[in-house]
Amino acid sequence: MRITVIGCGYLGAVHAACMAELGHEVLGIDVDRAKVGLLAAGRAPFYEPGLPELLTSAGATGRLEFTTDITRAADADVHFIAVGTPQKKGEYAADLSYVDAAVTALAPHLKPGALVVGKSTVPVGTARRLAGIVKAAQPEAELAWNPEFLREGFAVEDTLRPDRIVYGVAEGAGGERAKTQLDAVYATALGNETPLVVTGYETAELVKVSANAFLATKISFINAIAEIADVTGADVTKIADAIGYDARIGRRFLNAGLGFGGGCLPKDIRAFQARAGELGADQALTFLREVDQINMRRRVRAVDLTRELLDGSLLGKKVAVLGLAFKPESDDVRDSPSLDVASQLRAQGARVVAYDPQAVENAKRLRPELDYAASSAEAAADADAVVLLTEWKEFRELDPAAFGAVVGEQRILDGRNCLDPEQWRAAGWRYRALGRP
Ligand code: UDX
Repeated sequence: MRITVIGCGYLGAVHAACMAELGHEVLGIDVDRAKVGLLAAGRAPFYEPGLPELLTSAGATGRLEFTTDITRAADADVHFIAVGTPQKKGEYAADLSYVDAAVTALAPHLKPGALVVGKSTVPVGTARRLAGIVKAAQPEAELAWNPEFLREGFAVEDTLRPDRIVYGVAEGAGGERAKTQLDAVYATALGNETPLVVTGYETAELVKVSANAFLATKISFINAIAEIADVTGADVTKIADAIGYDARIGRRFLNAGLGFGGGCLPKDIRAFQARAGELGADQALTFLREVDQINMRRRVRAVDLTRELLDGSLLGKKVAVLGLAFKPESDDVRDSPSLDVASQLRAQGARVVAYDPQAVENAKRLRPELDYAASSAEAAADADAVVLLTEWKEFRELDPAAFGAVVGEQRILDGRNCLDPEQWRAAGWRYRALGRP
């Protein structure tokens, strides 16, 4: 198939490279010249494991190109919309201006029989509205909604081998045709018996936000239990293990700690509430407000615990921050709980020196006022306390004895419950964590 991918961010760049890898002819389109320049040169504009290799291998086949020129979309059969839908400034709703701009720019170039496929996370009702724009410009074109479930850090794997595929299509013959085209796009995954759900626009849109709302709720549930563990001396990690053995509950997404962040979960649960309000069904999702509040309290708790570790005051203390990305294996600092805690510690008087294996450059752009180091040892040199905020493998594997020799004081806050407290205490550390005695 001849495919375009409009929007080459964390989602679009990976989707473009994977579609080329699967044998399609792909044109990635983005308004950002610098990003297009890097991708065209076979370089990833952000950290995502496996993406550089894919850009090189797919680029070498001649099947993967990048451009800023939307008119070049005219030849393609299928157009994926993969632009961002960030939270609007000052409100909960999603900002759809990038989606609208992409579809409006594309519409005049659609050929008869072309298919526009939305991948961005949008409020329910958006696909039907955009289908109107597509039809008005090219009556013989169709629109489908095909939500993306990829996780950053595993984006290549999730795109090449998705755990399910969802198509939201129009009623009638147009929808049938859209399904046939999407089946051709996803032939490899469907051939491997990937579950497929074919449904209408509204259901497909809601699948995505429901999945993210559920994941956010699961994380906040265990973090709420962590609050109770904190006041009772119980260990939330053991609770998660024990309830996770129940197949109905499952252990995944029950890691208590600093909570969720990133470009998806926080803004998606807010946009979902905003949309429910517009639809007159706000009561259905009031619990997501609580989910959000539990999540934000984790950050306050981490700052409070660090102050406790430092005997009551952050003023003038050197705090080494390990981890800035919203999760490991990513350089993404959008709504990162780690970066937020680092900033709060500094705002309350600590001298913060932060290190992250990949996210330092992005963090510097958002928080130039923090000090940054090039390694965990450099960040921790003579520190009064260490706070581990993103559970990168290299932090999980730190040797407590060797690391103890670097710091000024052996005090550590394990913000992700990813270290073995016994081992660290045995090496002389004062160890604190969220939801663990
Ligand atoms: C998420 C969804 O998983 C994905 O399906 C969707 O398409 C986009 O949003 P992503 O944002 O990449 O993906 O990250 P995810 O792995 O879901 O983690 C989200 C946040 O939750 C991270 O900040 C992570 O640290 C946190 N988290 C996750 C926890 O605090 N505890 C857990 O047990 C799991």
